[in-house]
Amino acid sequence: MTGRLRLGVNIDHVATIRNARGGPHPDPVRAAQAAAAAGADGITAHLREDRRHITDTDIDRLTAEIALPLNLEMAATPEMLAIACRHRPHAACIVPERREERTTEGGLNAAGQIDSLRPIVARLSEAGIRVSLFIEPAPEQIEAAIRLAAPVVEFHTGRYAHADGEARAAELRRIADAAALATKNGIEPHAGHGLTYDNVAAVAAIPQLAELNIGHFLIGEAIFTGLDASVRRMRELMDEAR
Ligand code: PXP
Repeated sequence: MTGRLRLGVNIDHVATIRNARGGPHPDPVRAAQAAAAAGADGITAHLREDRRHITDTDIDRLTAEIALPLNLEMAATPEMLAIACRHRPHAACIVPERREERTTEGGLNAAGQIDSLRPIVARLSEAGIRVSLFIEPAPEQIEAAIRLAAPVVEFHTGRYAHADGEARAAELRRIADAAALATKNGIEPHAGHGLTYDNVAAVAAIPQLAELNIGHFLIGEAIFTGLDASVRRMRELMDEAR
């Protein structure tokens, strides 16, 4: 059975535009409210170490003012762990973070840092937060998620999104195989990064995937059509693919 695929709207880049001028506009919380009205199932925000887009105040306000579940993307650091445990978002997605990168360029190497991730996953879980690991769709990373008892993995779809032709088909198979493997082991698979109107359908058609998290394209498209229309169109494409 292929269930409804949830859409998490990542609002980071509303904050990117706001921060370009330093004032309050455009407000990411207003964007979250608009995304909710357009059919988003959740809101995703990445509190980066350098606070280049989302700020601590945004997280305070998203927690207090938004009815949808909040998925906090965070690096596996003591600072972020403390913030997550204080706010207790619905979910926390552990992402790799390098200061110099433009965006999260690849998945977390969970397999290579099981010992350091273990206490962080445990603390988040004890706080009642649903832990997700943002990993490449690779068996060794899923194996690490099993060992860490993470209930959710999110597959980084960047390689799929940036490939063409046969290479793209191969990346899609990797995601589909990984989704099947995660599900078989009781882990809920999600996916995201670089998804657009043009490439979302094939990913959305993977039956085991429960959630897609999409940001940059939706916010960019909103410049032309408005956020309500861009979220609604993505929702339609996801539903049609199921
Ligand atoms: N999921 C995770 C874990 C991410 O880090 C990002 C990018 O910040 C996304 C989804 C959304 O990617 P995009 O902005 O390319 O849609």
